[in-house]
Amino acid sequence: MRLSGKTYIITGAAGGMGKVTVDRFLEEGANVVACDLSVASLSEKSNNFLTVEGDLTKEEQAENVVAQAIQAFGKLDGLVHIAGIAQKSTPIEDVTLDEWNRIIAINTTAVFLMNRAVVKALSDQEGVIVNVASISTVRPRPGLSSYIASKGAAVSFSQALAIELAPKKVRVNVIHPGPSDTQMLGQFAAEGADVDKMKDSVFKQSVPLGKLIEPIDIANAAVYLCSDEARMVTGTVLHVDGGRGL
Ligand SMILES: NC(=O)c1ccc[n+]([C@@H]2O[C@H](COP(=O)([O-])OP(=O)(O)OC[C@H]3O[C@@H](n4cnc5c(N)ncnc54)[C@H](O)[C@@H]3O)[C@@H](O)[C@H]2O)c1
Repeated sequence: MRLSGKTYIITGAAGGMGKVTVDRFLEEGANVVACDLSVASLSEKSNNFLTVEGDLTKEEQAENVVAQAIQAFGKLDGLVHIAGIAQKSTPIEDVTLDEWNRIIAINTTAVFLMNRAVVKALSDQEGVIVNVASISTVRPRPGLSSYIASKGAAVSFSQALAIELAPKKVRVNVIHPGPSDTQMLGQFAAEGADVDKMKDSVFKQSVPLGKLIEPIDIANAAVYLCSDEARMVTGTVLHVDGGRGL
C-alpha cells in the first residue's frame, strides 16, 4: 500500500493507460478521482473511487474536476495527467490550423489547466504531479509534427513547474511512453495504412526490448513517481519505452 490514504486525480481514465493506472492506484490504497470525456466505461469500484466527466480543454470543466475531488475526499495529493490525443501521420503541408489547434488544446493547454487547478488546491501542502508526454519528443517520427510539438511543450512546462514549485515541496515529473498497446497506437498511422501490420512492422520493431509497452508499465511508473520512494525526484523525465529513445 504505497499510496495509502492519498488522493489523486487521474485524467484520461477511460483510456488504455488510464484504466490500468486507476486500478493500480486503487490497489495501492489511494483515493482516485477518475476523469475523462466520458466515464461510462468505468464501473463502480469502491467508496474511495469517484468519476467526473469533463473536457479538460475547458477551463471551468478542469477546475470542476478538482473541486469535486476536494468535495469528495477533503484534500488532494496529486495529479496523474494522462489524457491526450494522437495525430494521424500527415505531411506538414497538409496539416490544417484547426488540427494543430485541436492537438495543442488537448495535449498542451489541458496540461496547463489541470496542473494549475491542482496546484491551487494544494496551496500550502506537499504534492506530486505526473504529466504523460511521449518518447517521440526526443525520437521523432515523420508526420507527427503537431503531436510532437504539443508534447514537447508539456515537458518544458512540467520542468518549469518543477523548479517553481520545489520550495513548496510539490514534485512535478514526466513519463515518456514508447509505442504502447492501446487503441491510440493505430491512430498515429497515416490515412489508409494497415494498422495491424504497422503495429508489428513499425512500432514493435522500433522498440529495442522487442515488444510494445503495456499500460501496466506506465501505471507502475506513475505509482513510483507518486510514492515516497520518489520523494527526491522532481523535474525528471522517465522513459518507459523499452529503449525506443536510445
Ligand atoms: N499509446 C501510445 O502509443 C502512446 C505513446 C506515447 C505517449 N502516449 C500518451 O499516453 C497518454 C495515454 O494514451 P493511451 O494510449 O492510453 O490513449 P487512449 O486514447 O486510450 O486514452 C486517452 C484518453 O484521453 C481522453 N481524452 C482525450 N481528450 C480529452 C479531453 N479533452 N478531456 C478529457 N479527456 C480526454 C480520451 O477520452 C481517452 O480516454 C496520451 O497522453 C498519449 O498521448 C501514448
